[in-house]
Amino acid sequence: MTPLPDIPKRIVYLDHAATTPTAPEVVAAMLPYFTDIFGNPSGLYSIAREAADALSDARVRIAKILNARPEEIIFTGGGTESDNLALFGIARKYGPKFGKHIITSQIEHHAVLLPTEVLKKEGFEITEIEVNEHAEVNVDAVIAAIRWMHLFFTLTHVRLRVHFRLIHKN
Ligand SMILES: Cc1ncc(COP(=O)(O)O)c(C=O)c1O
Repeated sequence: MTPLPDIPKRIVYLDHAATTPTAPEVVAAMLPYFTDIFGNPSGLYSIAREAADALSDARVRIAKILNARPEEIIFTGGGTESDNLALFGIARKYGPKFGKHIITSQIEHHAVLLPTEVLKKEGFEITEIEVNEHAEVNVDAVIAAIRWMHLFFTLTHVRLRVHFRLIHKN
């Protein structure tokens, strides 16, 4: 049998929805905070104050981009913490006043679905919208699910692990 020719190996990364390399200008901007200005921004000494000023500056700039107020920007350690904070925060603060119905979809990340399960035990009603074979949420199904005392939606725009969730659903 003729041996297969050597095929040069080249990695083509197609999963940028899951993670992506950090832009070099971002790395350059961040580097001083890993090496020189590494203070805890809650501290009172000079390195800490420098870190706090940088954080405050970043908060103002991000708020401007998002057309928000700086005090509305909350930095977290990652996606799970952000999802938990948003879901539990809104539900527990506004649920008692505005209603306890939440709409989500069957393809949300576990960091969204697990909190909704906890909220269900706390008395919230969760409607999980099904998706089609293309993982698209049907807008009519969402509209049909809205109630008078509806609290919020948590729906993914682009889902990175669609295949996993669909296959393992039942
Ligand atoms: C919607 C969503 N929430 C949470 C996570 C998990 O993020 P982290 O590992 O930063 O907690 C991901 C990661 O893919 C995500 O897509």
